[in-house]
Amino acid sequence: MEIDGKTRTCGLLGNPVEHTLSPMIHNTLAERLGHDLVYVPFLVEKGRLGEAVAGAAALQLLGLNVTVPYKSEVIAHLREIDGLAEDIGAVNTLVRCAGGYKGYNTDMEGLYRAMESEGIRIRGESVILLGAGGAARAVAYLCAVKGADKVWMLNRTLEKARTVAEEVNGKVGRAVICPMSTADHRMLPEGKYLAIQGTSVGLAPNTEDAAITDDTFYEKIHTGFDLIYSPWETKFMRLVKAHGGEAYNGLKMLLYQGVIAYELWNDVRVSEEDAQAVYDRLRDRFR
Ligand code: ATR
Repeated sequence: MEIDGKTRTCGLLGNPVEHTLSPMIHNTLAERLGHDLVYVPFLVEKGRLGEAVAGAAALQLLGLNVTVPYKSEVIAHLREIDGLAEDIGAVNTLVRCAGGYKGYNTDMEGLYRAMESEGIRIRGESVILLGAGGAARAVAYLCAVKGADKVWMLNRTLEKARTVAEEVNGKVGRAVICPMSTADHRMLPEGKYLAIQGTSVGLAPNTEDAAITDDTFYEKIHTGFDLIYSPWETKFMRLVKAHGGEAYNGLKMLLYQGVIAYELWNDVRVSEEDAQAVYDRLRDRFR
């Protein structure tokens, strides 16, 4: 692309940012949609996030993504915050508004759209959610809001799952999240479940690890969705497939969180054809 006096800039605030795939997502979309826009990663040193956001506002950057470790910390530096992002307590997208930025969470809507695109539904489902960290907490909230029948939140540390369950159940006003220790997974009621893998277990380079390896667990799963996309196929996904289930990785979630951010910044709707073109480029990185 040719950068000129009218080129608008978007970017990513995080630490580290070297391995991000977001520039590929946004620069591909800008190219395909014919927008004069460029997206670059910005490494923000610890303790300098406030300066970075204020500097971005002064430079009139159109929009920003925020990644590890700043998704919660950034909230203190916003002018406004979207309701869903506030409830989740994490922001990954900043959209320019009067005097600064408004924060959104497109990670969860991204997961929802990724699931929709694969024909996976949450409404009325019995869900097993592995993990109770930052990512799993947001997924628990998404499932509760999107009408899951029940979400069994399994975590190595039961206390953490209890805390998250209490908080999410309180927010949505029904006892939908049920905390359980991972070690007790055999106590899950009989039935077939949608399982969402939200722990960091199995992430490269530890590709032979899974939070649960017991066969009896995988017999209960009709569909497995891992938030991890590196490796392309996690041990969790392999185990789901080995027991006859469908398994998906987290690359479409990454894709759609970016697509939704791009839509917010540019006030457009990205077609499925354009989203698929970006996905194809992302996937080539892993094959
Ligand atoms: P993220 O932001 O990616 O969610 P996190 O908040 O640090 O990261 O949460 C990591 C999750 O992976 C937690 O659910 C953690 O379980 P604990 O709460 O018991 O720590 C889970 N996890 C990490 N390493 C694990 C391991 N070796 N075995 C089982 N669970 C693990």
